Amino acid sequence: MALELIGLSKIFPKQDSSAAIHVLNDIHCRVKEGTFVSIIGPSGCGKTTLLRIIAGLEKPSSGRVLLDGRIINHETDRIGLVFQQYALFPWFTTLQNIQLGMEIMGVPKKERFEAAMAYIHRFGLSGFENRYPRELSGGMQQRAAIARTLITEPKVTLMDEPFGSLDSQTRNSMQEFLLGIWREKKEMVLFVTHNVDEAVFLSDKILVLSRRPAKIVKEVNVECVRPRDRTSPDCNWVRKEVLNCLAYENKIIMT
Ligand SMILES: Nc1ncnc2c1ncn2[C@@H]1O[C@H](COP(=O)(O)OP(=O)(O)O)[C@@H](O)[C@H]1O
Ligand SMILES: [Mg+2]
Repeated sequence: MALELIGLSKIFPKQDSSAAIHVLNDIHCRVKEGTFVSIIGPSGCGKTTLLRIIAGLEKPSSGRVLLDGRIINHETDRIGLVFQQYALFPWFTTLQNIQLGMEIMGVPKKERFEAAMAYIHRFGLSGFENRYPRELSGGMQQRAAIARTLITEPKVTLMDEPFGSLDSQTRNSMQEFLLGIWREKKEMVLFVTHNVDEAVFLSDKILVLSRRPAKIVKEVNVECVRPRDRTSPDCNWVRKEVLNCLAYENKIIMT
């Protein structure tokens, strides 16, 4: 299985008082099954827009998204979303939130409950199944949000800065947790982040986007052995390579 982005462009049309915005410019990329890909780029360059197009929440102005060589079907191809702003529903408990996707898919009640309890256990949320999101820590809420998505067994999981609001220690442990889950499932993940360290620690490949209108300026293959040591010379080398690309893009913005 592969996900292919073919010549994706996006222009938000002119509105009454604002000019048209050219966000994405001819994005081409092929992501193989089982790979963890990070997308990094200057703020406002179009990372969220790109994920929204892949998820079918936004239409591209031109170009196509293929899955397994055919146009992606947002009705039948399961695409998982973990977006920072798509928080848990505050009026549902952990258990209810995690069951939601399966409920929408029509999974019978007993099956849904058993699967959710297994995820609650695996995601370190035992004892909190009947609590509401406000009663959980930030890390727990994000684990519940990830569980809610992964329980539907998506072919492709899209994550938009999911750990952006966590403190750095929780963030590091969530990265390790996510890698553990990903290693079990080996499904494709597209992970947007601002954070170069996070991208290097997690990814098989890092796509570096230019400023708007964004195109892919570099595909960096991260070949550091796993489990990774964040401070190892080869991780540092990759980090420098990505930072150099980003510094160049930011310099263009400043001048
Ligand atoms: N629905 C929309 N209508 C008009 N402009 C939009 C819309 N969504 C995003 N944009 C604009 O597109 C640009 C890229 O946004 P976004 O994809 O959120 O960037 P990023 O996630 O890289 O920070 C921004 O200038 C934003 O204002
Ligand atoms: Mg964004």
